[in-house]
Amino acid sequence: MKKVGEIIALTLAMGSLTLSAAAFAHGTEKHGKTAAAGAQMKKLHEMMPMFSVAAAGVESALEKGEMTAVEIEADRILDSIPDLKKSKPHKNVKQRKKFVEITTKLEEAVTSTVVLAKKDDLAGAKVAFKKVEETCAACHAKFRD
Ligand code: HEC
Repeated sequence: MKKVGEIIALTLAMGSLTLSAAAFAHGTEKHGKTAAAGAQMKKLHEMMPMFSVAAAGVESALEKGEMTAVEIEADRILDSIPDLKKSKPHKNVKQRKKFVEITTKLEEAVTSTVVLAKKDDLAGAKVAFKKVEETCAACHAKFRD
């Protein structure tokens, strides 16, 4: 039985080695080598929860037909579009063009949601907002871990 104990101990030790190697690789490769790249990623981490809250705000304002609230919530997303274009994902980092392209689509979809809401075209605004959600999902599929 002594052997089994040794094997378990060895397996555990190797397991923790593998884990710390993985953590190290994550630290150096995935989070970028420079402080600037780190800051760009941090920006993304801070921006996304706000996107989530703002998008939920647009959705509930559309449900209630409160057009002013639609505009206020949508503006929070629009205001950070320039920052999103400058920020950096963890995955597929090299496909910057695609990242910016999807961000532009997001900008267009949010803008048309607002334009239609301002025209009191509730149905149209809801359709436009569906595009917004599709854009969030498209970017996550490609660029989120
Ligand atoms: C151009 C790309 C892009 C678009 C568009 C985008 N996201 Fe994200 N989102 C990301 C990436 C990349 C992450 C992973 C962030 C990270 O790991 O730093 C993320 C993460 C998140 C998270 C998890 C929180 C986090 O920091 O990991 C939420 C919530 C989120 N996004 C919501 C949204 C919503 C809602 C929209 C649309 C209104 C949206 N996102 C649009 C790229 C995008």
